[in-house]
Amino acid sequence: MPKLFITREIPFPATEKMKQLFTVSIWPKFVPPSKEEIINNAKGFDALVTTLEDKITCDIIESLSPQLKIIAQYAVGFDNVDLECATKHGVYVTNTPDVLTDATADIAWGLILSVSRRIVEADKFVRSGKWFLLGSAWHPTLMLGYDVYGKTLGIVGGGRIGYAVAKRAKGFDMRILYNSRNRHKEMEDLGARYVDLVTLFKESDIISLHVPLTNETYNLVDEKLLRLMKKTAFLINTARGKVVDLNALYKALKEGWIAGAGLDVYPSEPLDPKNPIVNLDNIVLLPHIGSATHETRAKMADLVYKNLEMFYNGDVPITLVNKDVLKIRKPGF
Ligand code: NAP
Ligand code: GLV
Ligand code: GLV
Repeated sequence: MPKLFITREIPFPATEKMKQLFTVSIWPKFVPPSKEEIINNAKGFDALVTTLEDKITCDIIESLSPQLKIIAQYAVGFDNVDLECATKHGVYVTNTPDVLTDATADIAWGLILSVSRRIVEADKFVRSGKWFLLGSAWHPTLMLGYDVYGKTLGIVGGGRIGYAVAKRAKGFDMRILYNSRNRHKEMEDLGARYVDLVTLFKESDIISLHVPLTNETYNLVDEKLLRLMKKTAFLINTARGKVVDLNALYKALKEGWIAGAGLDVYPSEPLDPKNPIVNLDNIVLLPHIGSATHETRAKMADLVYKNLEMFYNGDVPITLVNKDVLKIRKPGF
């Protein structure tokens, strides 16, 4: 049997199925393995299941080559894997698109509503006893936020999750703008208008990011773009932390260039609680939980299994990321 190293416990039925095809070794700790620990544990192994927290550098790939043939990532984003190096060494890389689209779009919407209507701040207000001490239960100016319904939503990245976020916005009667490398017919069928980034940042009341992290999207949202936003607008990031310049965002929130932000992702994770952004009231901070539902994480595991099974059977894995690898090596162990 080929050997599979899984970098974290993935407690779903698909993991048991993997054990029928592979000799499986699972990293037992909650804390991820270091680079050396991955190399030592996966030496002589044929396949890896990785999470977005594992930095799969060229060093690792070269240390495990030529035995390593497939890296099945348990996430849709794969910016943690050195794709060019993997392809060069004939290593297949797969990810888990589609099955986590709706869960991630829901969390983006959770952030939109939380930050616009100050839900998290208001919850703290009740629990801390500040409401009780106020002497008035309902006041015309208590905890005022901004309407979401009927506003303009700007989506950056018109792919799977961007589209799912846009679909939900229809129920809120929103005007939708989007920017992407290409135009997307299904976005336009929803009534979304394709605009350049500058127009999107100037005109939107809520901006939600859905691009992958690449050389082009690194620090895409910088001081210049933030300064174009309305003072009453919100920025939502469920994509990757490095797409936003966090220092510039801090300034924007602190100095009131924008009304607020909602983040699920950070340039460095986990976010250091000493980061000054933690002290601001006009931001909602989540610990990278976009796909974190029982149902979705089980489906992601199923898709990881499906990719491994197809490769095992000599078929091209269903969600292969580095298609160029097909020119280097045929699928199969
Ligand atoms: P996707 O379907 O590939 O969509 C990404 C879109 O971004 C694509 O449509 C693409 O362009 C567009 N894009 C790429 N580079 C761009 C650029 N420089 N400027 C403008 N648009 C650009 O991916 P997805 O499934 O929606 O996932 C998006 C990202 O969300 C993932 O890569 C991952 O990093 C993140 N994510 C986070 C969580 C979480 O837990 N918070 C969960 C899932 C995913 P075109 O199609 O227009 O060429
Ligand atoms: C989560 O961030 C993912 O890319 O799946
Ligand atoms: C609020 O509770 C209202 O009745 O307007």
